[in-house]
Amino acid sequence: MKKKILMVCLGNICRSPLAEGIMSSIAPEDFIIDSAGTSDYHIGESPDKRSVETARKYGIDITSQRGRQFKTSDFDEFDHILVMDQSNFNDVIAKARDEEDRKKVRMILEYAPDTSTREVPDPYYGGKDGFEKVYDLLTRACDGFLRNHYPEAGRQS
Ligand code: 4NP
Repeated sequence: MKKKILMVCLGNICRSPLAEGIMSSIAPEDFIIDSAGTSDYHIGESPDKRSVETARKYGIDITSQRGRQFKTSDFDEFDHILVMDQSNFNDVIAKARDEEDRKKVRMILEYAPDTSTREVPDPYYGGKDGFEKVYDLLTRACDGFLRNHYPEAGRQS
């Protein structure tokens, strides 16, 4: 069975598109990675230019992604749902139907143990530095996630 991972933030244009791009670039080929927003603010939109530029700088193309909203059926579709901050966590958990759904949801920085923050800061209203910071946090978290859950996958790549 292919493993499926969903990245979730508020708008699905800044943080979770970067998380999707980073995870897609390091996970084995048979993994399916997607992203969604808890809000309906940016449905159908391309990722924020600053996320596109940051990803491109590190050789990752996220331009084909389009914003979509998190939905309850995502609990059926995905094995892991990784959220960026506490507010995303609360919004996703509020849609969970049972313990099986709830067990799939994790704060992504749980997997980046060397970081001092639990939340990936929302870079939307800030400058370019914020996107570099997000990229750095997410790179460490994605690597930590694969090592934790799929150590055999981590060794391949
Ligand atoms: P994201 O950032 O959740 O990382 O995609 C945001 C993007 C847009 C808005 C908020 C956060 N907004 O309020 O439109």
